[in-house]
Amino acid sequence: MINFITLTIFPEMFNSFWSYGIIRKGIEQKKISVSTINIRDFAEGKHRVTDDRPYGGGCGMVMKPEPVAAAIRHARKKHPEAYTLLLTPQGQLFNQGLAQKLADQPGLILVCGRYEGIDERILEHLVDDELSIGDYVLTGGELAAMVVIDAVTRLIPGTLGGEYSAEEDSFSTGLLEYPHYTRPRSFEGAEVPEVLLSGNHAAIKEWRRQASVVRTLLKRPDLLMDKHLSSDDIRFMTKLQKDLKTIMGNHSTAS
Ligand code: 6GU
Repeated sequence: MINFITLTIFPEMFNSFWSYGIIRKGIEQKKISVSTINIRDFAEGKHRVTDDRPYGGGCGMVMKPEPVAAAIRHARKKHPEAYTLLLTPQGQLFNQGLAQKLADQPGLILVCGRYEGIDERILEHLVDDELSIGDYVLTGGELAAMVVIDAVTRLIPGTLGGEYSAEEDSFSTGLLEYPHYTRPRSFEGAEVPEVLLSGNHAAIKEWRRQASVVRTLLKRPDLLMDKHLSSDDIRFMTKLQKDLKTIMGNHSTAS
C-alpha cells in the first residue's frame, strides 16, 4: 500500500485520474490510497492568494511560500513516513528505475508547482527531492504528478492483474517490447506472423526476444549501450550483422 498525497491549487484536475482503470482498481483494492490537499486552503486573507510578483521584477508570478509550506507541513504531520517530492522541470529526470525506487516508499507527497515556480525557500527544508518528467515545460506539476503516480502504481504487486507482469516492460528488460497481435489473423491484408500461431512456445519465445532486439536496435539504439545482452542475443546480433554486411556488399556504392 502506497499513500499518494498531492498538493495543488487545482485539486479537481485529479478527479478523473482517480476514476479510471488501474488507478481506480488500485484504490478499490487498497493497493494505493490517494488524497488531494488544496494549497489554497492554507492561504491567508479574504482572497486566499497563492501567488505574487517576483522580487527583482520579470514576467510571470511566483507561488508564495507560506501556503505551500503550511500545506506540506499539514501533509507531513498526517503522513510522517511519506517522502516529499516537488514536481519541477529542474528536478531529476524521472525514469523506470526511479519509479521502481518510489514504489518501495510507504507514502509520497507530491507538490505541484504552478506559475513560473515556487519560492526557492520551500526547496531548502520542506522537500526531499525534485522530479521532472522530461525536458519540456508544462504549465504546472499536476500532469507530472499523475505521470509519476501512474508509473509507480502499476509496479505495485497485484495492481496490473491477470498474467501481465511489469517485469516484461520495455524499461525493465532494457529492451523495447516485441510486437503484439490479436484476432483477426488477417487484417486489411496484413497477416499475423506464422510462428505466433504455431503453438511452439520455445519458438515463440525466441521470435519475441529477437523482435525485441531488432526493434530496440532500430528505434532506440541508445538503450542497448548499457544493456547486458545474453549469449543468445549476441549470437543473434552477430548473425544480423553478417546478413547486413552481405546485403550491403550486394549494393556496394564503393568505387
Ligand atoms: Cl515536473 N513540472 C513542470 N511544470 N514542467 C515540467 C515538469 C514538471 N517536468 C517536465 N516539465
